[in-house]
Amino acid sequence: MKGQARGEFSSRLGFILAATGSAVGLGNIWGFPTNTAENGGAAFLLVYLILAFCLAYPALMAELIIGRHCRANIVSALGGLPSGKIGRNLGVAAGLVGVFTASAILGFYSLVAGWMVAQLAAQGATLAGADGLADWLDRQSLARDMGCALIFTVFTITLVGEGVKEGIERWSSRLMPLLLLLLLALITYVMSQPGAALGLKVYLLPDISRVLDGELIISALGQAFFSLSLGVGTMLIYGSYIPREENLPTLGAAVTLIDMGVAFLAGLLILPALFVAQQGGVEIYQNGELIAGPTLILQVLPTLFDTMGTAGIIFALAFFALLTIAALTSSISMLEVPTSLLVESTVLERRSASWLAGGVIFMLTVALVIWFDPLFALVVTATTEYSEPLLGIVLCLFAGWVISRNKLLEELRHGNPDIEHSYFWKIWPPYMRFFCPLLIAAAFIQSLR
Ligand code: TRP
Repeated sequence: MKGQARGEFSSRLGFILAATGSAVGLGNIWGFPTNTAENGGAAFLLVYLILAFCLAYPALMAELIIGRHCRANIVSALGGLPSGKIGRNLGVAAGLVGVFTASAILGFYSLVAGWMVAQLAAQGATLAGADGLADWLDRQSLARDMGCALIFTVFTITLVGEGVKEGIERWSSRLMPLLLLLLLALITYVMSQPGAALGLKVYLLPDISRVLDGELIISALGQAFFSLSLGVGTMLIYGSYIPREENLPTLGAAVTLIDMGVAFLAGLLILPALFVAQQGGVEIYQNGELIAGPTLILQVLPTLFDTMGTAGIIFALAFFALLTIAALTSSISMLEVPTSLLVESTVLERRSASWLAGGVIFMLTVALVIWFDPLFALVVTATTEYSEPLLGIVLCLFAGWVISRNKLLEELRHGNPDIEHSYFWKIWPPYMRFFCPLLIAAAFIQSLR
């Protein structure tokens, strides 16, 4: 499509909804509460909030600025910034690693989202009285996993194929308010149940002795990067669709705050729900630790729903709809990464590009279903614990060193003419050059030991 006009978000709100749609996903509603349960409750929440604002927000700004400055996908952007040939090649290589990482993340994300679709459909089938179908959807099988992941992938491909405004922005704007409503309704219900107060206590009263635990810090950093969709060019390409007159630091702050807010709210749902389940006789501890991970979402919570009768079916329906919607507005942002590369550097049109990229990624999902052990854990670790933080460092270095200070200032002045006198401009550039990459590297090295 070379030469054709690029897509752009139609308004500030459109961008915020699309970017928070990307950020708010399974990482918030599943990952954050289960990580919190696993890492001693409130101590994790505290470290998470600190790291999110000190490391993830600056890294998000790096991606948004590079994106809007270059108006291109991650490969063309990083490949076009350096002046020397070696620098350019390194940029292209880093960009390609980003595209592969985004694709691999989408590969496993679709599988997990498929489980959510299966649970959602199972509740629908139960309501409709189709018990046989509900049973099939509820029980893990290769056919169910592939089928449900395929449905989810087709939705993702279709929305991305529609374009930036008509697909991504329009659907994020429809689904995000719905997501918030569902979340608030579920919280209200759970809070009124016996046992909820105990869950709140575990969630909100920190055990300060755990705050400096290395393991906890790494999990919190990984969680913050994953949750803000950082390190793979997602926020970079969304940044490239922001109109020039918008104020980037404010937009980035809004996205960070909303993302943290929704994660916090999801904690208010899941942790109390665990203790409500305990009141109902469900075992929620395993070897002295709170149950976390897939067991929590796919077994403990459904047992809670079962104790609630018909209300339980409605509750479960809303809960899995919430997770499916959250996953969809995130998966479109992942598919946008390879799609935008294909659209901007080949002759493919957007629709064909999104089918091609989505099709290839679905093959990875199929491989993950078939060889779940050991492939799944391997792909999750390689992408989220290695690739994302390392690319995060590269992106900070590009924003801090490769784009000149004058160019940075010029870019930030669009939408904020007085930025030169702001705290942001005093703190952010040196922070981006030295502290941010060093701190991410330190946390990363710590995790290798
Ligand atoms: N942030 C999303 C979540 O919390 C997932 C996500 C979307 C993502 N795009 C990404 C994660 C890019 C890493 C990279 O679920």
